[in-house]
Amino acid sequence: MIRTIETLTEAGVLLRSLREGIDYSTATGRMLAGIFAALAAYERELMHERAAAARAAARARGKHTGRPAKLTPKPADLTFEQAATVAISGLTALQGLRDHGRIEPGQEVLVIGASGGVGSFAVQIAKALGARVTGVCSTNKVEMVRSIGADRVIDYSREDFARGEDRYDVILDVAGSSSLTRLRRILTPEGTLVLVGGEAGVRWLGVVARLLRARLLSPFVSQKLRTFLSSENHEDILVLRELIESGKVIPVIDWTYSLSEVPEAIRYLEEGHVRGKVAITV
Ligand SMILES: NC(=O)c1ccc[n+]([C@@H]2O[C@H](COP(=O)([O-])OP(=O)(O)OC[C@H]3O[C@@H](n4cnc5c(N)ncnc54)[C@H](OP(=O)(O)O)[C@@H]3O)[C@@H](O)[C@H]2O)c1
Repeated sequence: MIRTIETLTEAGVLLRSLREGIDYSTATGRMLAGIFAALAAYERELMHERAAAARAAARARGKHTGRPAKLTPKPADLTFEQAATVAISGLTALQGLRDHGRIEPGQEVLVIGASGGVGSFAVQIAKALGARVTGVCSTNKVEMVRSIGADRVIDYSREDFARGEDRYDVILDVAGSSSLTRLRRILTPEGTLVLVGGEAGVRWLGVVARLLRARLLSPFVSQKLRTFLSSENHEDILVLRELIESGKVIPVIDWTYSLSEVPEAIRYLEEGHVRGKVAITV
């Protein structure tokens, strides 16, 4: 089984359960939710495999095949580690830009957090959809973001992307490092701001507060302020597969760790070195 670490919370849950086993009597709700979500996802995957086998058998017998599963064969040129990153980060980037940002060819798109898991997909997908893309990341990752197709890269440690004269038709904010006011200032009057992540460095309620503020404000301003939760669906996985097979999108894997190296992987994540995604092979 191959999984990528999607969030530090998820990584923490995995690490803690490996180190200490799972003590359900003292586990926090969040920790249990993480464990159960992982188990449920694994169970779902097994069920899909069984359902696919049953459908294949039904097809062979000439019977009705039912609803398609969320599984699709991985593109031949992709490693299993790369394929494992597509489901959440790739779908989030695709749905954020296409469904919520409604990007169109020729538009100016800003991806804040362009060097990370979601952002590295977003830069490539926005380019594939014909946009002109500006990516925001830290100094050490500028070259990587340029290499995946960004027309312009802003190093946030040297330049404040919200201060310039540039205006964007669509902003995909993955990093959550800026206030709504700052982001709206660099959005065109009819532009769309898509918040992917909550506000960085604030506690749970603070994260929700920014998303709520955007939702409440949106009907009263000319700009569109969107929040969303990505959804897994077969059609979108096929879209990503086509983008990957055509060479327009290449999942970026920074490093692959074995299960016993999970502590090291988490340290690497926490230190902010990761370009794209980190994968754990089990
Ligand atoms: N809505 C959904 O359905 C959905 C789905 C998946 C994920 N998410 C959320 O999306 C967020 C990010 O996910 P991810 O996996 O892409 O994270 P990630 O891999 O850690 O990437 C974070 C990005 O933010 C950048 N960044 C950090 N500080 C910044 C700053 N001060 N200014 C500008 N950019 C900054 C990082 O750049 P450097 O590394 O160069 O510093 C990096 O590119 C998380 O909050 C996650 O929960 C939401």
